[in-house]
Parts: sequence; structure tokens; C-alpha cells
Amino acid sequence: MDKYAVFGNPIVQSKSPLIHRAFAGQTQQELSYEAIFAEEDKFKERLNEFLASGGKGCNVTMPFKQQAFQLADKLSERAQLAEAVNTLTVDKDGKLLADNTDGAGLVADFHLNNVNLRDARILLIGAGGAARGVLKPLLDEKPEKLVICNRTLSKAQALAQRFASFGRIEAEEFSDIQSAFDIVINSTSTSLTGGLPPVSAKIFSSNTVAYDMVYSDSATRFNIWANDNGVALTLDGLGMLVGQAAESFLVWRGVKPEIEPVIKLLRN
Ligand code: ATR
Repeated sequence: MDKYAVFGNPIVQSKSPLIHRAFAGQTQQELSYEAIFAEEDKFKERLNEFLASGGKGCNVTMPFKQQAFQLADKLSERAQLAEAVNTLTVDKDGKLLADNTDGAGLVADFHLNNVNLRDARILLIGAGGAARGVLKPLLDEKPEKLVICNRTLSKAQALAQRFASFGRIEAEEFSDIQSAFDIVINSTSTSLTGGLPPVSAKIFSSNTVAYDMVYSDSATRFNIWANDNGVALTLDGLGMLVGQAAESFLVWRGVKPEIEPVIKLLRN
């Protein structure tokens, strides 16, 4: 039976084994998928042990996405642009192929919810690793424009420059953003601590779709704030999590599972 895994620290909370086992059942694929804890300085060793035991591929989550990027033999274009890797695959020559499916997962979740990205005005809040991983797939959807804002403006400016050849992308200060967007995506880590990015509520209108990349059992603070300001729809990162997993499954197995039933399974 082909072996897969996810590496992280912490990892006990990972929903990836449940998701991939559900995909395997749905697509009638025989495989195993486990969660593997690696000490902060032992990712390479744990990965090599897994590969030596016949592992065919793995997901990589916090805090190892940059290390996986460094260890790969070959990078996909989206991994190269993201400078982070969430999917590793062993090819027939034993080489380690690296990919980043996070952005494709986000876009898949928008599509599932009938949110149109083409010609949309998108605001991306935050310019860390999570933002970098989704920029190219978002720009590939041909929005009217994508504005990226960040507490540290220089990081937003650097990303706008790096991705300029893929579409209209602009960096702005938090304080300069005073109008509504069709889609507002929160990629900052503020929801993890119950905080909010210091952006004006003018970013929201009754047509806005708000997306918080974080998810939790109850609504995130960002999505509560968006709802309080009358947005059309709020979505959280659970769909993106299942979406990126489906894209990884496709890379490994050549079949793309349905994400909707698995999102429902996790919500329940
Ligand atoms: P990740 O990989 O999750 O994106 P990261 O690379 O550490 O993690 O990025 C965290 C993001 O959240 C950054 O955009 C960060 O802003 P800075 O670049 O200015 O640090 C943002 N962030 C974290 N705490 C924040 C806060 N209290 N207010 C606004 N933005 C915050």
C-alpha cells in the first residue's frame, strides 16, 4: 500500500489524515496517510526516515514549508513563486518533487462557493508566507486588480513587485484603504490570537465576500467583524485546507477528489 504523511510541529491537531483517508475512500485508492511530528531541528531526518521506509509523498505544514522548499530536488513554478512547499512527491528516479497547492486550494474554495474572481477587486491583507502562497493562483483568475496591504508596507511592496508580471497588483498602506472591495482576504495571523488587522471597515459592502484563511469551530473574529459590517458572505480557511489537500491528492494519485463532502464531514 502506498504511504503518505503530513509533517508538522505541532501535528496532533492535523485534519490532513482524516481528509486524505476520506479522499482515498471516495476515489477507491488504496493508501495510508499518517501525521508525523518532527522536532524543530529534525525535519530532514524525519523526512528521510519516512522516504527510506517507502513513503511516496507527503504534505508539509508549519513550521517546515521553507525547509521543504530548500530540500527539494525540483520545484514547480507555483512552489518557486511561493518560496514555500506544502507537497512533496518522490518520482520514479527517487527525486523529490516539490509543489505548493495552497493557492489552488483557496481558488477551489471560492469556485465551490460560486464566488467569481474574474474582474473582481480583491484586497489581500497580510504579506507573510500565507499571502505569498496564494498570489499567483489568485492573479491567474484575472481579477480587475489585487491590492495587497500589510502592517510592514515594504513586505507588501516587495510582493507587488515580485508578482507584477502576472496581473495588476498594487501595494498600499492600511490607512490608505478607504473603499470597498468585492473580495477581502485576511491572510494575517491576527485571527489566531483573536485580533483584527487595523483596516477601515470601509473595505466591506453588501456585495463583499470576506475570506479568513484561518478557521476555527466558531466564526473567526475577522468574519464576525465582516458580518457586523453587512458583507454578502463570509468563508473561513477550512475549505482552503480541504482544497489544498485535494490538489496534493491529484499530484500524487492523478485523480481529483470532491472537496464538498469532505468539508461537510469536517464541519460536522
Ligand atoms: P504566515 O506564514 O501565516 O503568513 P508570517 O509569514 O509570520 O506567517 O506572516 C504573518 C502576517 O500577519 C504578516 O503579514 C504580519 O504582518 P507583518 O509583516 O507586518 O509582521 C501579519 N500580522 C501579524 N500580527 C499582526 C497584527 N497584530 N496586526 C497586523 N498584521 C499582523
